[in-house]
Amino acid sequence: MKVKLEEIYNSAVKELENVKSIENIEELKLKYLSRKGELNSIKKGLKDLSDEDKRIVGAYANEISQKLENAVSQKYDVLYAEELNSKLKSEKIDITLTGKSLPKGKIHPLTSTTKEIVSILQSLGFSLVADSDSPEIETEYYNFDMLNVPKDHPARDMQDTFYTNLASNVVLRSQTSGAQIHVMENQKPPIRVIAPGRVYRNENINARKNNFFHQIEGLYVDKDITLADLKGVLNEFIRIYFGSARPTRYRSSFFPFTEPSVEIDVQCAMCGGKGCRTCSNTGWLEVLGAGMVDVNVLKGAGIDPEIYSGFAFGMGVERLAMLKYAIDDIRLFYNNDRRFLEQF
Ligand code: PHE
Repeated sequence: MKVKLEEIYNSAVKELENVKSIENIEELKLKYLSRKGELNSIKKGLKDLSDEDKRIVGAYANEISQKLENAVSQKYDVLYAEELNSKLKSEKIDITLTGKSLPKGKIHPLTSTTKEIVSILQSLGFSLVADSDSPEIETEYYNFDMLNVPKDHPARDMQDTFYTNLASNVVLRSQTSGAQIHVMENQKPPIRVIAPGRVYRNENINARKNNFFHQIEGLYVDKDITLADLKGVLNEFIRIYFGSARPTRYRSSFFPFTEPSVEIDVQCAMCGGKGCRTCSNTGWLEVLGAGMVDVNVLKGAGIDPEIYSGFAFGMGVERLAMLKYAIDDIRLFYNNDRRFLEQF
């Protein structure tokens, strides 16, 4: 039995020498040292021996298991260190490498310009209308009828306005002015509100025009409001928005829902007024339409024009952004070209 034990020990040691991984060590432990392993099966035979032999062979068997266990645990330590080292080497992180910066999203210039305009107008006393007072899909009633736009007005033409197939009188709004009517229906004067939003027009697209764009509508109705108030508010707005004096001109104009009506032009920032493609060689860009709210509009909305008067305006967000940042083509806002967007 002693010989047998020695044989087992020797072959275990030999196998141990050839073991290359921790996984193989586990297999070897199973084979020799586990309860069902070879050493244990010899130990089971001890019960057939004389007491004297039992003691000697038993002690020897224990000694051999102990030696083998020591050898196995030593080998385990060596292999563990080797495996750890090679792992560390292959997974090493070079902390001296320069980092890769992640692309960061930015606020779209039309969003930031809208926010800026809104906050200036808020500082001048205007408050935002509820979204429900400024829907993008409108009936002709709000987009035209109540704004005193005659039935045969060319703006109603399919060539200018996008009609939907929801119903014959439902349009994509061509102006934010419908918000004026919604607000006057729901609110009594004094009224001092603004309504930013997208509008749609069936335009030929060029550097100045797109078939959708953004406006900010304003409406101020109270007692004794005059054209001087309109000029005061809009001049102050332009002064704050551009931060420095920009040549500006008022032109008398016509809108069915204001009387008198004006348009405000700001000198083209691309050519400094000399004339270029962006301003179609005029040296000016129109940034807003405005005027005193027409008596018919007030009456239609149930406001007595003998007591109240008001002014309204509609600003073009794209035009104002183009002038501030010298953007020479309106289409840049919609192309999602990162080289453009990253500049803001
Ligand atoms: N709705 C007009 C336009 O889109 C602008 C405007 C608004 C004019 C309010 C007068 C008063 O051109």
